Amino acid sequence: MTKITVIGVGNLGAQIAYKIAARNLADELVLMDIFKDLVEGQALDIQQALPFKNRTKIIFGSDDYSLIKNSEVIVLTAGKPRTPDMKDRLELAEINVKIVSSVITEIKKYAPNSIIITITNPMDIINKFIYLSGFTREHIIGSGGQLDSARLRTILGCPEKEVEAFVIGEHGSDQIPVFSRMKIDGQVVFFSPDEEEKIKEELRQSAIKVIEKKKATIFAPASNTVDMVEAIVKDKKELLVCSVNLAGEYGLQDVSIGVPCILGKKGVEKVVEWELKSNEITELKKTAEKLKDFYAQLK
Ligand code: APR
Repeated sequence: MTKITVIGVGNLGAQIAYKIAARNLADELVLMDIFKDLVEGQALDIQQALPFKNRTKIIFGSDDYSLIKNSEVIVLTAGKPRTPDMKDRLELAEINVKIVSSVITEIKKYAPNSIIITITNPMDIINKFIYLSGFTREHIIGSGGQLDSARLRTILGCPEKEVEAFVIGEHGSDQIPVFSRMKIDGQVVFFSPDEEEKIKEELRQSAIKVIEKKKATIFAPASNTVDMVEAIVKDKKELLVCSVNLAGEYGLQDVSIGVPCILGKKGVEKVVEWELKSNEITELKKTAEKLKDFYAQLK
C-alpha cells in the first residue's frame, strides 16, 4: 500500500496532488492545508476526477496530522509563494522557515521515516533547515533542479530539437547550466561566453515571466516534482537533479544544493559526481558559499 501526502494544497500542491492521483502513484493520497474549506474542496475535486481512472483514496485534513502516519512520501509546498515584485526567492526565507517549522514538528511526530520532497521556497534553504531538524539526508530532497533543467531545455529548442541539458546549483538566481555536458540533436554544443550569459539570463527570467502573466508557476514545477515522486515509489533508480544536503560530494558540505542524484525507494540513493569543468566547479562552490552565508544569517 503506497501512501503519499501533500502538505499545502494551493496552486502548486493541488496540481501535484492531482497528478499523483492521475498517474496512479498512490493507494492513499492525503491532502493537508491550514485552510479547511480549501483542502476539502481540492480533495472532492480530485476524487471526482478519478472514478474512470483508478481507485486512489483521497483523505484530507487541516490540523489532524495523525492522518499522515505511514506516508512513504510527503510533498511539502506549504508556504508563501513569490510575487511579481520579488526579485529573488530568498526574500521568502524568514516567513517560510516559520511556516515549515510548524509543519516539520508534525511530520516528526507522525511520519518521521517518510521521504520529504521540499518545494517551498527558497527551496535549498528550506531543505537544509528540514535536514537539520533531524532527518536523514537521503530522505530530504529538494525539487527545483529538474524544473530548471526543463526550463533550460525549452530555451535551447525543445521540443523541436532533442536537447540533453541539466541545471545544477541554486534553485534561484545562481542556477548553473552544465554547458560542458550539453547535447542538441545528439551533438555536443559549444556556446561563446556571451551566448552562455544570455542563456543564463533567460533561465533566470523564466519563472518570473510566467508569474507576471498568470500569477503563479504551476504545471512545470508540479510535473517535474511528480517525476521525483514516481522515481521514488516505483523505485526507478532514475537520475534527476535534486537539492540534497551534501556530505563531501563535489568538495561541499553544510549546504543543500542541486546536484545529479539517483532516486529510488530509499530516497536519494546516490549523489552522482559528474566531472565538471573547473569554471563550473568554481561556480558551484561560490553558490554553495552564498547559500551557507545566507543560512547563517537567518534569524
Ligand atoms: N500548514 C499547511 N498549509 C499551509 C500552511 C501551514 N502551516 N501555511 C500555508 N499553507 C498553505 C496555504 O494555505 C496555501 O494553500 O500552503 C498553500 C500555498 O499555496 P499557494 O499560496 O497557492 O502557493 P503556491 O503557488 O502553491 O506555492 C507554494 O511553493 O514554489 C513554491 O514559492 C512557492 O513557497 C511557495 C510554495
